[in-house]
Amino acid sequence: MELRLGFLASHNGSNMQAIIDACKNKTLKSKPCVVISNNSKSGAIERAKKENIPYYHLSSSTHSSEEELDKAIRDALKSQNVNLVILAGYMKRLGPHTLKEFNNRVLNIHPALLPKYGGEGMYGILVHEAVIKAKEKKSGVTIHIVNSEYDRGPVINQVEVPVYENDSAETLAQRVLTVEHQTYVETIKKIEEEKIKL
Ligand code: GRF
Repeated sequence: MELRLGFLASHNGSNMQAIIDACKNKTLKSKPCVVISNNSKSGAIERAKKENIPYYHLSSSTHSSEEELDKAIRDALKSQNVNLVILAGYMKRLGPHTLKEFNNRVLNIHPALLPKYGGEGMYGILVHEAVIKAKEKKSGVTIHIVNSEYDRGPVINQVEVPVYENDSAETLAQRVLTVEHQTYVETIKKIEEEKIKL
């Protein structure tokens, strides 16, 4: 199945880049079609420019109404015939219009083993700090389908990552991020091959 990928990313976009690279080197058959960021200065937008992928800055500063912003995001994805939406470090909630249009076709990555260490307020380094504080022996990566609740949609892939005794939140974050890049690509490949059915 040819997947047309639309990315939403708020910051650096290293997960997005790993997927773009896998498309370029033919590990994936999918095509990166559009990048949307709520942050006009994000690394994700810089990467889109460099890769010649159409991009949009869509946020509360471009659309003061939440509903209009939601529709603009939906329309930007539709304009490029996207059929799989990839959240890659996107810090905002998707609205009902976008979720309805792409029902079961939106993926998110979370840097822990959901349902643990997920939900509102659990993002970025805070996740890894909580894992270390709880003295967990393992953390990991979760890929799930997005619905209207934060970090609660059906899990489609999960990979464990060890936590070492001398880990800081930063060393753990780095180890998890490397696995995130591999896991996102592998998951999209399984969707292409219909080994994972959405
Ligand atoms: C990743 O840890 C991802 O799991 C989380 O935000 C981070 C994004 O990193 N949701 P990047 O922007 O892909 O580099």
